[in-house]
Amino acid sequence: MTQRYVLAIDQGTTSTRCILFDQRARLAGVAQREHQQHYPRPGWVEQDAVEIWRNLERIVPAALRNSGISVDQLAAVGIANQRETTVVWDRRTGAPIGRAIVWQDVRTEELVRELAEDGGAERVRELCGLHLATYFAAPRLRWLLDNVSGLRGRAERGEVLFGTMETWLIWNLTGGADGGEHVTDVTNAGRTLLMNIDTLAWDGELLRFFGIPGAMLPRIEPSTGSFGTARKVVPGIRIAAALGDQHAALFGQTCFAPGETECTYGTGGFLMMNTGREPVRSRHGLLTTIGYQVGPEPVYALEGPIAVTGALVQWVRDNIGLIGSAPEIETLARTVADNGGCYLVPAFSGLYAPHWRSDARGLLIGLTSYITKGHIARAVLEATAWQTRDVVEAMNADAGLRAESLRVAGGMTSDNLLMQIVSDVLDIPVQRPIISETVSLGAAYAAGLAVGYWPDLEGLRSNWRVAAQWVPKMDAELREEEYENWRRAVELTFGWFR
Ligand code: G3P
Repeated sequence: MTQRYVLAIDQGTTSTRCILFDQRARLAGVAQREHQQHYPRPGWVEQDAVEIWRNLERIVPAALRNSGISVDQLAAVGIANQRETTVVWDRRTGAPIGRAIVWQDVRTEELVRELAEDGGAERVRELCGLHLATYFAAPRLRWLLDNVSGLRGRAERGEVLFGTMETWLIWNLTGGADGGEHVTDVTNAGRTLLMNIDTLAWDGELLRFFGIPGAMLPRIEPSTGSFGTARKVVPGIRIAAALGDQHAALFGQTCFAPGETECTYGTGGFLMMNTGREPVRSRHGLLTTIGYQVGPEPVYALEGPIAVTGALVQWVRDNIGLIGSAPEIETLARTVADNGGCYLVPAFSGLYAPHWRSDARGLLIGLTSYITKGHIARAVLEATAWQTRDVVEAMNADAGLRAESLRVAGGMTSDNLLMQIVSDVLDIPVQRPIISETVSLGAAYAAGLAVGYWPDLEGLRSNWRVAAQWVPKMDAELREEEYENWRRAVELTFGWFR
């Protein structure tokens, strides 16, 4: 019998990647292409959705060709994507009405402040489990409806469609203007501020609150839902799963039991804890979100997004010139035994979880004539570790569960010193699995489960094996003293930006 594979598409913030997995979750082929970032004004971040679609059209055939696999050997396609990035396009022509507005874009700051007044923020949190913040899609969509001439009327008449990246790609894959499926999944819909966290449907009150016409919204499916059959790129193959990328990472790390927690470290850091069948309302600054839905019932999660982790290393490389390449941060940090008393809080565009302070700005504090480049490098790494601790503390408090270990993936996990510091400050083991492509793997797993390529969750769990583990070595008293210093530094960042 010919070997079959699952195709995972990971449409991320900086690039689109596709990976072919075999039944033992081994990589059989891969291709990737970056797309351009546009910064038309301070705080604005845009991408060209057509460029992203064209990249997908190129990388999938390339991955198949390079690995000698044909389209008819594919069992299913699973899609994971950058969340919250907002695309609006013309239903008839398929042309976007402008560039996509990216999740990092903060142009809606004033709008969000206004909406939050008079109990708005609390009501939104009650209905959808999220903070009313510029991070999510609804304020962006409202901004477009208010600022693009004639758009509201077209939206009300159903002439233009809204979607995040998975919706845009699925619509194009399944035929585009010629009958493409306009569909999203619960994890992505759950990041718009428009989906009710209990009913998993668009919420009429939220639609009215944000002024969004329902006619432009996609239908919501479970993560393993009916997304249609591809007519382009991989014709005839079923699109069997879609999930937001961080939800796919939770799934790919096989965090299937309540309390299991993972973090993907990229430019930002995204932590998720599985909380089981009931949504846990956060009282400590986290997001209540759908972890995944691969059956009739959703599995909920608590999420703590951290805006700046790897981006801080890039900043000290590109803007400050402290290091020539990202891995040098570890070498430099190893020249000292500790931070020498200095702390760096990278609140470059405010702080996300658990603080949610858009008025915070970054600081470096504790400087004395003793401080060297090495201490600053150490403070750079510690910033990621302390921010992780802030989120894990909040998770433990909200969920009434304790994360027993942290499963990690992403570029920063190749920094051994950083992973050791994370383990030290959390006081739990940190583990990196053999297959570190957890986002793509999660999308593949969900798609493969939907079509019976993999039988059940237990089978997937047995594929997860530790490649590297870091265990805590830090003195308990020192850890708490250091954490107190970090918290004082964080508080000093609040209110700086007016
Ligand atoms: O919420 C934004 C997140 O989904 C982006 O992830 O890995 O594409 O930067 P990434």
